[in-house]
Amino acid sequence: MALKRQPQHGQVPGCPHHVAIIMDGNGRWATQRGRPRLFGHHAGARRVREIVEACPHVGVRYLTIFAFSTENWKRTQVEVAGLMNLFRRYIIRETKALMANGVCVRFIGDRDRLDNKLITLMNDLEAATAANDVVHLTIAINYGGRDEVSRATRRLAQDVADGRLRPEDVDEETLPRYLDTCVLPDPDLVIRTSGEARISNFLLWQSAYSEYEFIDTLWPDFTRAEFESLCSAFGGRDRRYGGVRP
Ligand code: FPP
Repeated sequence: MALKRQPQHGQVPGCPHHVAIIMDGNGRWATQRGRPRLFGHHAGARRVREIVEACPHVGVRYLTIFAFSTENWKRTQVEVAGLMNLFRRYIIRETKALMANGVCVRFIGDRDRLDNKLITLMNDLEAATAANDVVHLTIAINYGGRDEVSRATRRLAQDVADGRLRPEDVDEETLPRYLDTCVLPDPDLVIRTSGEARISNFLLWQSAYSEYEFIDTLWPDFTRAEFESLCSAFGGRDRRYGGVRP
């Protein structure tokens, strides 16, 4: 059994090809400053640009960020509306910089519950940046790993029911083709900020063999230097994918 997976096209040895981030701690960061939670989310949005821009310098080709989970609808109406407004403003304000930096943007998650204006902006940004190839930024909005697997399974079951797929042909390669992330490699490294050590329904299927970094920094304080240091530390990890070293 091979111990190392084959490097992906364009992968820099020792660098995580795909980093996924659970951007946690915006609320606490704002509370510590006596400000409303949305103040923390706005500060968090500014960090996103800094980290996206750092990616090509550390050899990260794919960056996936968790912006809003299927569970986040439980927050107050003010916070949910403020976050949706922030996503709309982010797309409008950042399009120029994303284009200049060669960033291809994709969104994952269930769009059915999002408002039409936001969906249109998301679709337009995906179309405008589709040919970019320096960094592939995936933004998870109304995303949950269990929800994604359920939606994927529903489509797979429909293909079986319609005779396009035979049950005996379903294997580990089949389901990922139905996931929102079907065109993405699996994440090599998942970072969660703010001191919480849990994965909160993020990329459940895709992170089966990911390395994890749980760090205490609150997301609005997360710097490019810290990101670069976590990416270089990744090079020292011994990834065996269930095998053993000879
Ligand atoms: C978790 O922190 C963070 C979120 C639910 C929102 C993440 C959103 C951003 C960083 C905003 C920008 C994103 C884009 C793509 C523009 P929390 O609110 O749960 O923090 P807490 O645990 O301290 O309460």
